Amino acid sequence: MKTPLVAGNWKMHRTHLEALMLVQQLSYELDDFDFDAVEVVLCPAFTSLRTVQTLIDSDRLHFKLGAQDVHWEDEGAYTGEVSPRMLAALDVDYVIVGHSERRQHFGESDDIVRRKLDAVLGAGLVPIVCVGESEAERDGGQTEGKVGGQVKAAFDGLHADPAKVVVAYEPIWAIGTGRTATPDDAQETIAFIRSVIADVSGDDAARAVRIQYGGSVKPGNAAALMGRPDVDGLLVGGASLDAADFAAIVKASKP
Ligand code: PGA
Repeated sequence: MKTPLVAGNWKMHRTHLEALMLVQQLSYELDDFDFDAVEVVLCPAFTSLRTVQTLIDSDRLHFKLGAQDVHWEDEGAYTGEVSPRMLAALDVDYVIVGHSERRQHFGESDDIVRRKLDAVLGAGLVPIVCVGESEAERDGGQTEGKVGGQVKAAFDGLHADPAKVVVAYEPIWAIGTGRTATPDDAQETIAFIRSVIADVSGDDAARAVRIQYGGSVKPGNAAALMGRPDVDGLLVGGASLDAADFAAIVKASKP
């Protein structure tokens, strides 16, 4: 049995002072039993990472820390970028790579996503690699082609242990739209993702890899999604900005 992995992707929300308040509110809502049962990751903006890390340390909170993006080099003349080494020094545990918003608005190709994935693994951090199809691709029957291609690009010829990679299946049409994939849809595509990983990296890796669902996860749909056999966790955007909602999602994710 894998420990459910529930991550909050705060996107470009909250100043570092607001982040402090949100973490404090969340820590009142969750108790040791919740943290024993569920691994909870907070992914604030870069400007809040140090603040949140300091609070986690000083108050001995059980949250894990995640970043929303990273560059693939350890250092260099890349104005505005942040490296895996910098994140590791901040005790960051997880890094989201290839979120659909980065692919869509910042032109991140499968190749760039793969470079980031390799760099994150190389720094000893855990990547959460996002994959998912658009509405037009789903309607055109291209879900497996699109998602399968993204998964292959992430796993093919990986030097690091593939079992360390976390995959988040996030259908683009479900992100921030209030339209969630049904638990059956999520299960079907996530099982397909696992089969692609098995083809590329072997059965053991495919079994070990944790695969999250993301896209309009709310307190009301979390338990049903988590109830499906291949769903190992949730990547939560909008609802992770509300302490009560996010805490309810964590509690609903307990096995
Ligand atoms: P959402 O975002 O929960 O607001 O749909 C999910 C995500 O983009 O990770």
